Amino acid sequence: MTTIKMIAISPEETKDVLADELKALGATAIDQQFKAVYFECDERVFYEAHLRLRSASRLLRVIKEFAAKDERMLYDQARRINWGTILGEENTFAIEGVPGERGEGVMTANTISKRIREALQTWFEDKIGKRAVVDLQDPDASLVAFVRGGRCILSVDTSGKSMHKRGYRSDKHPAPIKETMAAAMLLKLGYKGDVPLYDPMCGSGTVAIEAASMALGKAALIHRKKGEFGFERLTLFNSKLWREVQEDAREGKLEAPPAPIFASDISANYIEAARENAVRARVEKYMTFSKADFFESKAPAPSGLLVTNLPYGERIKGEFGGDDESFFKAIGDKLKKDYSGWRAAILAAEDSPWKFIGLKPTRKIRLLNGSIPVRLLVFDLYSGSKKKTPLNESLD
Ligand SMILES: C[S@@+](CC[C@H](N)C(=O)[O-])C[C@H]1O[C@@H](n2cnc3c(N)ncnc32)[C@H](O)[C@@H]1O
Repeated sequence: MTTIKMIAISPEETKDVLADELKALGATAIDQQFKAVYFECDERVFYEAHLRLRSASRLLRVIKEFAAKDERMLYDQARRINWGTILGEENTFAIEGVPGERGEGVMTANTISKRIREALQTWFEDKIGKRAVVDLQDPDASLVAFVRGGRCILSVDTSGKSMHKRGYRSDKHPAPIKETMAAAMLLKLGYKGDVPLYDPMCGSGTVAIEAASMALGKAALIHRKKGEFGFERLTLFNSKLWREVQEDAREGKLEAPPAPIFASDISANYIEAARENAVRARVEKYMTFSKADFFESKAPAPSGLLVTNLPYGERIKGEFGGDDESFFKAIGDKLKKDYSGWRAAILAAEDSPWKFIGLKPTRKIRLLNGSIPVRLLVFDLYSGSKKKTPLNESLD
């Protein structure tokens, strides 16, 4: 059986949950690096990783690792690759050169991609008398050459579109969280789908939809359209095994989530957009949506996990009145009053006055939301005693 070497890319802050996901899939040699997790797998796990990983943003399949102390060596080594096993004569390609260090004598991104392009094109010319064609917009093979410490890791992007693009979301909300980030948050919180989940400021519904997918044991990218994964356009594509892996995923999904999933928002338009997204993700019938002001409504269950991504900056002031401090204080008051027995995980900007929530977080998880430094603040809202509850047991 061939061992495939892979690199899964993710934000630095969430690579730990990505490594856990890989372990659960049966990947081996899992090695966390900067903004990446290296791993090895067989061909089945290769396809499962593309279909199931929730927190990875990209997957790269390593073609070859070699010494590349200078341009000449980079070219010579790349020239020895049997390029025909990766792309066919009709396929187009692009190469992204990534220098992993700076300084004198270090090859630039341009030099790296140019040398590999020459090696690839010369190989095709020699073998079939035809030059492979570069396409920077929509290449069949998107190659990535990472050079550091005199070594090159040459890989091909097998995920294609970024993996946060699950295929269900419209652009009807101005500030949605990335699907991969929502899933990573839920994974960090230990959510397994067996406790009620509520996002009271759900916007386009990302957190709740990702939760529903997890609770049902659905494969995260099962609704991507044919041709959207990078591997589908490469000669190494095993369409039979890919079909089998997809069928197994469909069969393995649960009939219904073990616990309910609730989502609400103050805006009727956003709730409508969230519902439409859930329909596309085919989880809508397992979810309860409502238009509601968080501060005016009751908890939807006696206990559960509340996860939400707060509005921030001008949106708090402009649309919803009050200043930041009073907004955070109101959140804290509401949690204290109506959410005892719950665990609440609130995603707030690092520079916001979140301390006005007035509760001591049990965990503060540093994350980046786009480029904004944020914290996922976890509050355990004990009902009376601090005894372990079934909720704690499921999530801890
Ligand atoms: C940052 S957005 C959430 C984005 C969401 N995570 C997504 O992926 O689309 C914050 C949301 O809070 C909602 N919101 C603000 N104040 C609210 C309130 N008092 N009750 C309920 N929702 C509120 C806004 O309408 C907005 O959609």
